[in-house]
Amino acid sequence: MSERIDFGLRTGAPERMKTGLLSVGVFERRRLSPAAESLNGASEGYLADVLRRGDLEGKVGQTLLLQRVPGIAAERVLLVGCGRERDLTAGPFARAAASAARAIAATAATDAVSLLPGLGVRERDLAWRVRETVVATRGATYRFDRMKSEKEGPARALRRLTLALGRRRDLEAGQRGLREGVAIADGVERARDLANLPANVCTPEFLAEQARALAGKHPALHVEVLDERDMEKLGMGALLAVARGSRQPPRLIVLEYRGTEREARPVVLVGKGVTFDAGGISLKPGQGMDEMKFDMSGAAAVLGVLHAVASLALPLRVVGVMPATENLPDGNAIKPGDIVTSLSGQTIEVLNTDAEGRLILCDALTYVDRYDPAVVIDVATLTGACVVALGRVPSGLFANHAPLARALLAAGEASGDRVWELPLWEEYRELLKSNFADVANIGGPEAGAVTAATFLARFTRKYHWAHLDIAGTAWLTGKEKGATGRPVPLLTQYLLDRPPRG
Ligand code: BES
Ligand code: MN
Ligand code: ZN
Repeated sequence: MSERIDFGLRTGAPERMKTGLLSVGVFERRRLSPAAESLNGASEGYLADVLRRGDLEGKVGQTLLLQRVPGIAAERVLLVGCGRERDLTAGPFARAAASAARAIAATAATDAVSLLPGLGVRERDLAWRVRETVVATRGATYRFDRMKSEKEGPARALRRLTLALGRRRDLEAGQRGLREGVAIADGVERARDLANLPANVCTPEFLAEQARALAGKHPALHVEVLDERDMEKLGMGALLAVARGSRQPPRLIVLEYRGTEREARPVVLVGKGVTFDAGGISLKPGQGMDEMKFDMSGAAAVLGVLHAVASLALPLRVVGVMPATENLPDGNAIKPGDIVTSLSGQTIEVLNTDAEGRLILCDALTYVDRYDPAVVIDVATLTGACVVALGRVPSGLFANHAPLARALLAAGEASGDRVWELPLWEEYRELLKSNFADVANIGGPEAGAVTAATFLARFTRKYHWAHLDIAGTAWLTGKEKGATGRPVPLLTQYLLDRPPRG
């Protein structure tokens, strides 16, 4: 893990700020933002002069580093492209803040001041701008090098980023943004670290240990871990069926946050925790199989959200439930055609052992009924078909309750961690018919993300439920291979916006 950056707030005239680096927005067509305008004035037109030479157009993602600008106390000024002023919405702002962070990290500055929170962003207030600057900065400077002998970080890393606010009366909103930003960034980082760990380290028991460690740090968190014997007693035949193919014992991890005295009905978050998905007897092809270490990203996100919620001390009750197992082709593994009995009593014909996520989730989703949940949201790297349908931009959203779907769509917009709704219609149930059991675990080649959700819907009839298919959003492939920490920002936003109730 890299050194954490400290964040702070300040007000005052930008040109007089003594710091290693001052970052400031420039709009497309080389237009100065108000803060850049005042630096330009103090430097007798230096910034406008540089822009006139054409080295920075102002497109989102562009940056230009200036040294020793006359009349400016800061050692360096970083011009940050923010796109067209009237198009400055949440997405471009977050991308500009991330590019700024990368550019700052490439310098030797150890402390910097960002003027970006002073920019006007459509429909976003100051607290949001502060928060997103923190989240984007931490996200862009994240490294996972704990398994490398030689750390790749710069010799002189950024230690402190101060966010400049226009007026003293903005400080209160700024403080709130800072607190939320650090909590979300911590949650995202925890999820990324867990998902990036290889499967020989991050086993089901390792995840349980992480939950215990987190609970040890917050008095409002309580942990309970069910083992194989507990699952047998309960009758979790579907979860146990997946675990048979592995030498690693499965775990059902329950991490509960009680942030309110009243026995409020909880928000239950269920995260798929397949610590490695080889496909089982329906073995996956070798190409890219290493990425199936990320198949516990749902569980990692649930841990990350509970971390964020606990550090924000939100007045809620949240129960995180993480079914954890490997999916491997041992001699004892389930085989295509095997029929298993789920905790709900429904029998399932396992036509493909690689559709294991829904098998472990269905038992977890039945189990959570005992919490009398206000809502249940499951998070799972469930289908390759969801990546085909939506790519890597939004997570797939399914819900049996329209207000819950709307709340998640809104939280996606507010956090920049977006979701897109797909249908859960009656007609799809046909595809899951089995000749031998109550239901089959796959629905054929069409609408794979929908049939997976349709399968889960058979186990969630008793409560308001949403399912997030994060197969396309939980990690990046190729050169940038690694976990993203999504949907921690989305779910934390959803919980922040949720009014406390009895
Ligand atoms: N963990 C995978 C889903 C997945 C695949 C996520 C690729 C990200 C990238 C899941 O367990 C799985 O194997 N799903 C199968 C379902 C199929 C057998 C119906 C899939 O998507 O191919
Ligand atoms: Mn699978
Ligand atoms: Zn899987």
